[in-house]
Amino acid sequence: MAQIIDGKSIAAKARSEVKAEVLKFISTGGPRPKLAVVLAGDDPASQVYVRNKERGCAEVGMASEVRRLPASTRQRDLIDIVRQLNADKGVHGILVQLPLPTGLNEREALDEVDPRKDVDGLHPLNMGKLLKGDDSGFVPCTPQGVIEIILSTGIDLAGKAAVVVGRSNLVGKPMALLLLQNNATVTICHSRTVNLGEVTKRADILVAAVGSPRIIHGEMIKQGAVVVDVGTNRVGDKLVGDVDFDSAEERAAFITPVPGGVGPMTIALLLRNTLKAAALLAAKKA
Ligand code: GUN
Repeated sequence: MAQIIDGKSIAAKARSEVKAEVLKFISTGGPRPKLAVVLAGDDPASQVYVRNKERGCAEVGMASEVRRLPASTRQRDLIDIVRQLNADKGVHGILVQLPLPTGLNEREALDEVDPRKDVDGLHPLNMGKLLKGDDSGFVPCTPQGVIEIILSTGIDLAGKAAVVVGRSNLVGKPMALLLLQNNATVTICHSRTVNLGEVTKRADILVAAVGSPRIIHGEMIKQGAVVVDVGTNRVGDKLVGDVDFDSAEERAAFITPVPGGVGPMTIALLLRNTLKAAALLAAKKA
């Protein structure tokens, strides 16, 4: 039986560290870090995520602002709002909540965010820095949180076979790069992968981030693997991961639950990135 990784408590510890750093930053003359979130449309999951982000900011002593826009917002108005936030000296971090309503161009909106305020790490400059291993940029929060979750088990990633299922810009691709930075041997699988189970079965570390409910079953998992489930799929009124928890738990040494695994870590890392942005912007001004 696997040990269940308690993402909530790892995230609570990370938030309390950020809270202490925010206090210190402000007491040494820094501005109160502020996160601005652009939320277009009324996707119910996004509403919940954004509320949690606001709550997280308040908990660690940061300010936040949510720009709520109707689903009918035009692209040029969305871009205008991002530009206003770029120019606002009181805003240190900007996040455009995804997915955007149909009709809005995600890439164009993300490319418009000032890379110094891009706490989501989705601007091409920050994605390029991650690819080069330059840590002066911002790394997407979820994959960074997954690395911390894996390291919390005490496992050394060097030389381990890591398999990432999913190739999104938000999770899969940056996840693979971070695992590589930690010296794992990395394989990326996706919807066109032939014999997915044959590949996942070789993984010492398995990260599932495809967005398909319970696609990873116990028989696809190596005995003793670390299994991290990034999936948050709504099935009826339940939130289920990409991993079939009950069968996976029989094989894995460590496994994250959904909910209560990766989700809380994503917010903790977003807060850490916002503090980093505030500190770098303040240092530039000094
Ligand atoms: N939607 C779900 N997760 C995320 C995230 O980490 N960042 C953004 N911008 N949108 C999301």
